[in-house]
Amino acid sequence: MTSMQALSLGRYDVDGVAQYDIELRNLFKSYGSVTALEALDLTVPRGELLTLLGPSGCGKTTLLRLIAGLLKPSSGMVRIAGKNVTDMPAHRRNIGLVFQSYALFPHQTVAQNVGYGLRMRGVARNVVAQKVAEALALVRLERFAERYPSQLSGGQQQRVALARALILEPSVLLLDEPFAALDKALREEMQLEVRELQRNLGITTIFVTHDQEEALTISDRIAVMNAGRIEQIASPRTLYEEPETEFVLKFIGQSSIFPMQVEEVTDGVTALRNGAFTAETSGRDHGFLAGSKVNAAVRPGKMILSSERPSEACNCVEGKIVGAIYLGTITHYHIDTSAGTRAVVHSQNTEETAFLERLSTGDRVWVQWSPKNTLLFPA
Ligand SMILES: Nc1ncnc2c1ncn2[C@@H]1O[C@H](COP(=O)(O)OP(=O)(O)OP(=O)(O)O)[C@@H](O)[C@H]1O
Ligand SMILES: [Mg+2]
Repeated sequence: MTSMQALSLGRYDVDGVAQYDIELRNLFKSYGSVTALEALDLTVPRGELLTLLGPSGCGKTTLLRLIAGLLKPSSGMVRIAGKNVTDMPAHRRNIGLVFQSYALFPHQTVAQNVGYGLRMRGVARNVVAQKVAEALALVRLERFAERYPSQLSGGQQQRVALARALILEPSVLLLDEPFAALDKALREEMQLEVRELQRNLGITTIFVTHDQEEALTISDRIAVMNAGRIEQIASPRTLYEEPETEFVLKFIGQSSIFPMQVEEVTDGVTALRNGAFTAETSGRDHGFLAGSKVNAAVRPGKMILSSERPSEACNCVEGKIVGAIYLGTITHYHIDTSAGTRAVVHSQNTEETAFLERLSTGDRVWVQWSPKNTLLFPA
């Protein structure tokens, strides 16, 4: 606790002069003819953990390097803690960086690796020793100070990298796929650990990943990136429940997608049809005109199955079970529907759904959902 306070002292909880800790305005970056980032705006409030999530090549690393000052934008502005740092070199920006490859010095001990930045700044030896001990305590590696990186596991090496970044008391922490090389169990452990550490220090953090589960686990907000742009930035729950684009829908989680046509829009309800299959939405006007072609999507946990035809014909489609994957508390059903879409339904295994266990491949079922769970996208 005391070491945490020592490192965070007066750093992250001063009265804010700036509204945002990180502020990017109309940022462009091209490498020759390749445009990596386009008209990008982003604001990150102090203390937030924001994740950049997106497919390979969408510009995540480029964005981090621009914030760190390792790259210069083609145009636009980077502001950190209220200060325009667009033309400031990396070493003056006070930013902590951790990458996928540990980038530790192999011939230095853990303590020497962690103390490197302070030694470079000419800090007195006894102060360095004291801060190294604090930083190692933060990542629970006190007992490993005299080891060499090759004598550590992958997770421990990443903790050293983290300690090496935190010892400089950066105003902002940037992590680029830090756990990509770790196995699943260790990755999950590190996610929770980093999240706790980040919260305790209150350090503004940008975390890059292309693992959606990791993003959902660790983030205050997630920015979903696509081809150099941010598609949507929101809390994990909002991104999953209310994706604004089909790209976000498909990138985070699964869904069943039905191609349909808008029949009419009345009082915020959009009525949809595809042959005999009808569906509707509720809750908000999606702004589609009658006759528009749309994709209606439903998340797997929002659908229920029945073995008899339900009385409600809307938002209900008949189908045949083509697969069931039992996962303990839930079962994933794959259903070929008469609408032509293969639906994915995640059903909780409870008393009420016990009848589903008696169904087998080829059996007929009805898939149903509530209008408020119909998501609409332009086709
Ligand atoms: N030094 C470079 N020279 C030319 N093009 C580059 C350079 N670095 C990145 N790019 C291109 O810019 C785009 C964005 O790259 P970036 O490394 O930011 O993607 P990323 O989202 O981090 O991908 P990944 O998930 O694979 O790490 C890609 O099209 C990439 O090919
Ligand atoms: Mg990258």
